[in-house]
Amino acid sequence: MTSERKSIHGQWSTRMMFILAATGSAVGLGNIWKFPYITGENGGGTFVLVYLLCIALIGVPIMMAEIMLGRRGRQSPINTMSTLAEDEKRNKRWVWLGWMGMVAGFLILSYYSVIAGWALSYIFRTASGVFIGATAEGVSSIFGDLVSDPERLLAWHTIFMVMTTVVVSRGVKNGLEVAIRFLMPSLLVLLLMVVAYAMTTGHFMEGVRFMFTPGEITQEGVLTAMGHAFFTLSLGMGAIMVYGSYLPRQTSIAKATAFIALADTAVALLAGLAIFPIVFANGLMPGEGPGLIFKTLPIAFGQMEAGTLVGTAFFILLTFAAWTSAISIIEPAVAWLVENKGVNRIYASAWVGLVTWVLGLGTVFSFNIWSDKTWSIPYLFDDYTFFDTLDKLTSNVLLPLGGLFIAIFAGWLMRESSSRGELDSVGWVFRIWQILLRFVAPIAVIIVFLKAVKII
Ligand code: PFF
Repeated sequence: MTSERKSIHGQWSTRMMFILAATGSAVGLGNIWKFPYITGENGGGTFVLVYLLCIALIGVPIMMAEIMLGRRGRQSPINTMSTLAEDEKRNKRWVWLGWMGMVAGFLILSYYSVIAGWALSYIFRTASGVFIGATAEGVSSIFGDLVSDPERLLAWHTIFMVMTTVVVSRGVKNGLEVAIRFLMPSLLVLLLMVVAYAMTTGHFMEGVRFMFTPGEITQEGVLTAMGHAFFTLSLGMGAIMVYGSYLPRQTSIAKATAFIALADTAVALLAGLAIFPIVFANGLMPGEGPGLIFKTLPIAFGQMEAGTLVGTAFFILLTFAAWTSAISIIEPAVAWLVENKGVNRIYASAWVGLVTWVLGLGTVFSFNIWSDKTWSIPYLFDDYTFFDTLDKLTSNVLLPLGGLFIAIFAGWLMRESSSRGELDSVGWVFRIWQILLRFVAPIAVIIVFLKAVKII
């Protein structure tokens, strides 16, 4: 019987453990670094609204589906898809969904690690006290110095990759629980402190208005908002699926998903409320790009009471949040190597880490020596740096495509008795899930994508 399958990698020790690990995967740079800067680039209000709708109508049902597939298959996403396709008597090619996710994982982690390196380096910058009383220009130039120096970026990227591989090589379950149980709430408290500071800038309402008053948005902006819903919830590439494969049977998938999605969204919105008032108070531009939080938050830390301490703690926690996400990004590939190549976790993690590290060099260079080297992909984008290309290719194409296939497989190709048995939810919850997964999510993904590439 499928439901009695066991994972060779073990199980989460408690139900809470899964929720913590999946929340740790979801909450990361996506919430604090990426959400504010893409909101800024895409004009605020409407972008936030589209993002929230995508979380609720597309992200939540697909997350439930991904956890469910993982728990049924109990293996790495690649092997899970091949086993489930066989169980459900479907085409063997579904295994490609797992492969695509694994490729997306390598690409995402390669740049994620470079940005996490920025956060890591800011722990020491902030602790040194350079931001005390610094002006907006001073803070911007400190950021400019960092990203224009490939050697420093490379060093931090390397340290972060080593940190990630070491944890993954020991098995994702060890240590993650304590880390997340304690660190997540602390991150929330520090964010609230920055929001409290933002309220004293005299520009708080301007920030609120920017985030919540609907305005203009481009088709590409809509695609970015949808892609971000996948990215921030860690969906479409198997990270949540592999965590689901370690999930004990009794856990309610619907409740866990609701918690993860709410926590993730709350952190992103708080980050926006912390950052935009600082942007307006200091005459900065919301569309500053990927450096936005590094050009704004230090201003706050330089001015608030005990700012050096609060700021240092903030960047430590941000690094941790990035770390717990990075671990989940590489787990599908590591689990697959262990299952199929008969290697141990240490060896598997080292290989995956090494390949990702090498790919990361492209992102390191795209902020300095390659800053004018650009790439174009027909229909999708013109003249993007290496970093932007990876980011758009994963968030706007691979993750939504992965999510679309997950929705089709779980919604249409799996027998209803299989999914009902896994979800075991109250009747109406199951029905709503099914409608969202079968119709709303796939149709929305297809329309948003085709409109953005101007095919319709
Ligand atoms: N959700 C993470 C964040 O918001 O930072 C990033 C991420 C993790 C993306 C895992 C994809 C993934 F599979």
